[in-house]
Amino acid sequence: MVISLIGFMGCGKSCIGKELGKQLGYNVIDLDSWIEASEQRSVRRIFTEEGEKRFREIETLALTKVLDENGDGNLVLSPGGGLVTTPEAAGILRNRTTCVYLKAGTETLVYNLWNWPGDRPILGDRPDKETLRRRIEELMAVRAALYERTAHIIIDIDNKEYPDVASEIIAETRAAR
Ligand code: S3P
Repeated sequence: MVISLIGFMGCGKSCIGKELGKQLGYNVIDLDSWIEASEQRSVRRIFTEEGEKRFREIETLALTKVLDENGDGNLVLSPGGGLVTTPEAAGILRNRTTCVYLKAGTETLVYNLWNWPGDRPILGDRPDKETLRRRIEELMAVRAALYERTAHIIIDIDNKEYPDVASEIIAETRAAR
């Protein structure tokens, strides 16, 4: 079984993915890390050198390759938060994985992305808190429906600990089988 975790940047996909993999004894693949290893350059560099459109193509190809290579086994896959904006990729997640949307409110996202900004070209260069909030709202206005439509299971993660979210995902995916 392949469980994919989708949701906005900063919702905790990677950390929850690791925790879920640990609880289930599944392999865990973070798609951005996989892309960086395969491309031998950072996501930031792909954006800078070739732009978002090319990154989206690379991302969809990577998704297909990872599923072709691991699709028969047990896997937790955490793709980047913008993957669902490519309709082909959203269709692949829906058809080839059990897709879980980690739904976070704006306040959770602002808090996480402000405290752990990481390197996220799509959010701009070190925005102040208000600009960050506006950017999240702007992107979520487009993406919320895509996350909801792509996922088989939706889990609210506000104010929850990662291990508890992982246990909830296990219960929900078992119930959905
Ligand atoms: C992106 C999210 C990032 C990464 C890229 C674009 C997005 O992944 O794929 O910077 O468009 O939401 P995370 O969701 O892991 O931050």
